[in-house]
Amino acid sequence: MLVPHVSLVYSLTLLSYCHSFTVDPTSQASLKSGATTNAAGLRVFYHGDEPGQIPGNFPYPTYWWQAGAAMNAWIDYRNYTGDSTYDAIVTQAMLFQVGPNNDYLPPNQTLAEGNDDQGFWGLAAMSAAERNFPNPPSTGVQWLALAQAVFNGQATRWDDANCGGGLRWQIFAFNNGYGYKNSISNGIFFQLGARLAQYTGNDTYAQWAEKAYNWTTSVKFLTSTYIIYDGADVPDCITGFDRIQWTYNTGMYLGGAAFMYTYQNQSSIWLSRVEALLDSSISLFFSSGTIVYEPACEPEQTCNDDQTSFKGYLARNMGYTAQLIPSLADKIFNVLGSSAVAVGKCCNGGTGTVCGNDYTKGTFDGHTGVGEAIAALEVIQAPLAKYASSPSSARTGGTSTGDVNAGTTSSSGHTLTEPPPTTAGKFSAVFVTILVSLSTFGTYLA
Ligand SMILES: *[C@@H]1O[C@H](CO)[C@@H](O)[C@H](O)[C@H]1NC(C)=O
Ligand SMILES: *[C@@H]1O[C@H](CO)[C@@H](O)[C@H](O)[C@H]1NC(C)=O
Ligand SMILES: *[C@@H]1O[C@H](CO)[C@@H](O)[C@H](O)[C@H]1NC(C)=O
Ligand SMILES: *[C@@H]1O[C@H](CO)[C@@H](O)[C@H](O)[C@H]1NC(C)=O
Ligand SMILES: *[C@@H]1O[C@H](CO)[C@@H](O)[C@H](O)[C@H]1NC(C)=O
Repeated sequence: MLVPHVSLVYSLTLLSYCHSFTVDPTSQASLKSGATTNAAGLRVFYHGDEPGQIPGNFPYPTYWWQAGAAMNAWIDYRNYTGDSTYDAIVTQAMLFQVGPNNDYLPPNQTLAEGNDDQGFWGLAAMSAAERNFPNPPSTGVQWLALAQAVFNGQATRWDDANCGGGLRWQIFAFNNGYGYKNSISNGIFFQLGARLAQYTGNDTYAQWAEKAYNWTTSVKFLTSTYIIYDGADVPDCITGFDRIQWTYNTGMYLGGAAFMYTYQNQSSIWLSRVEALLDSSISLFFSSGTIVYEPACEPEQTCNDDQTSFKGYLARNMGYTAQLIPSLADKIFNVLGSSAVAVGKCCNGGTGTVCGNDYTKGTFDGHTGVGEAIAALEVIQAPLAKYASSPSSARTGGTSTGDVNAGTTSSSGHTLTEPPPTTAGKFSAVFVTILVSLSTFGTYLA
């Protein structure tokens, strides 16, 4: 998520052969059919399994983190539907991108990898463990250990010297955004800690999660009225305060809080936080309280390729929350159901399963891309959480093997602040920005 850029594939004129599909939110079969359609719609964009391509990458200009998010969507899809169509490509991608230290810091991504980017892959590995996704060959690294590696590496980067704590957005000092701390990086760290605590029963993760949550409130990225702002600059997190509100920030804290509630044996303090985050989600991010949308960019149609996917992660986490806290399930499935119906209306179910971006339009809006495809899958499958078992833990049938020390050595530590030798001096973040803009423009004109 290095440089926001304008969506390229925005104005494909597919309207002429658009056929929406009808979703009955009360029918598991109907939701499954919609999810199967949209899982295939996402697949159309993915070529990483083809000869000469790189497993775990979508074609340029889609950033690497979104591939991690897509793998997570397919992992949950498999659990919610029982359809194993994507197992092979997911396993291939998830293992190809682990990097030399098995912590999702592959050297190819050094110039575009923030804590949040790495975190999306860590969450995918966590989902694989929790959802009993088929374990990799026992001779190699396992899902749980990968999630632990991401978490442990991020814990070493916790920065008390600025803003009283928190993770920076970027991992490497030479990247744009190293001077910024944000809610998404810390929200993912919080959620990963909560889920690792619940899966392993190790309280250290929960203590970290609580520390991250507390810090987010202390800098008022997360306010007393449960609004979540994007972030602010070091050293004080007062300057450069960015008040933009994104669906996925609230989604990450919501899901993390639901796991904390579960881990802490139905803790009332976490329940009240979950309830408040849920109410905030529905009032801020559901148009007329019924259809999920991205108010920060959707009304003006300025969402970039990253942002088009964000509301999918809110829906994903609302599904998790409903599984973990049954007393909130009706409220959640009500708004997820109406959103799923709206997604169906904006997809081309007939010829290639393309979905648009704005579900409030009641029809395909002409905007397509990987981000739209991920969101359309996440939103339509989230209500299927109703019919699936809660995420497993090591005490309830989870079989993934962990490694408490994963990710604590070499390049994942906070000491790596210089570009690796192969890229040093060749690239600066500014240069990359220009490069990205130019090629973006080139592709657009082509
Ligand atoms: C890194 O990039 C090289 C050159 O494009 C490619 O051959 C390799 O497969 C990539 N590795 C990963 C993990 O993406
Ligand atoms: C989904 O995950 C749950 C627990 O994580 C597991 O019990 C169940 O067997 C999984 N279902 C499928 C179809 O993979
Ligand atoms: C988080 O804050 C609460 C009070 O607001 C405090 O009781 C708790 O000890 C803090 N937890 C951590 C890990 O700092
Ligand atoms: C939750 O309850 C179990 C069983 O009573 C207990 O062993 C465990 O310590 C409790 N966990 C927390 C975080 O309070
Ligand atoms: C719990 O996790 C911490 C942090 O990774 C680790 O140092 C510790 O050894 C773990 N404890 C157990 C009992 O596995």
